[in-house]
Amino acid sequence: MMADTKRGRFITLEGGEGVGKSTLQSALAERLVAAGLDVVTTREPGGTPLAELVRDLALHPPPGNYWSSMAEALLMNAARSDHLDRVIRPALESGKWVICDRFSDSTRVYQSVKGGVPLDVLKSFEASVIGETQPDLTFVLDAPPSTTDARRENRSQVKDSFESRSSAFHTEVRAAFIDLAKSEPKRCRLIDASEEASVVADAVWSEIQAFLAQQMSAR
Ligand code: TMP
Repeated sequence: MMADTKRGRFITLEGGEGVGKSTLQSALAERLVAAGLDVVTTREPGGTPLAELVRDLALHPPPGNYWSSMAEALLMNAARSDHLDRVIRPALESGKWVICDRFSDSTRVYQSVKGGVPLDVLKSFEASVIGETQPDLTFVLDAPPSTTDARRENRSQVKDSFESRSSAFHTEVRAAFIDLAKSEPKRCRLIDASEEASVVADAVWSEIQAFLAQQMSAR
């Protein structure tokens, strides 16, 4: 593959629960490594010891306790700041590719579109916390409930505070991710994730090749 290996690339995977982000992450990492690149796979919320503690606090509050959406947004951003400082920026600077399972688009969807935190507030958090470290490419995986419901059911019985919400919630989340992908066409690619995993990985791989080719020709 024709990549400028001096600087790493930052790829984020987004979408509702059960769309196959983790499976895609592994497949992409395998292909990038086979192409001779150094790859870091990570996730949000999480990715560092402190951010993983915040993940647990955010997703599994003690029984009977619930975070407000604003509090969730702050927790997600606290975890993100640590993750960026300790893992993502150092990796990109040393030429590694970072593939992150969820990032700031999840905050926009879950805490803004679904949770009511104003988008301009979240964008100001993004400006301070993320700054220049915007993803180069974001793949928004989309699949109908017939696919995602089954995948969610096959997961662990211990559901987090998001997974245990109603199917109407998941439908709204899906629509919000589609809108978001359409509103940022330069960075985001909407991917049909109802196909088999290998077909999804092929589609994403083609988009990565096209992105790199476009970057080379723009030089
Ligand atoms: P996961 O199950 O895909 O790892 O994601 C954990 C949950 O965290 C998922 O339901 C979405 C939620 N989440 C937010 O609400 N805001 C965020 O900023 C992130 C990164 C995740």
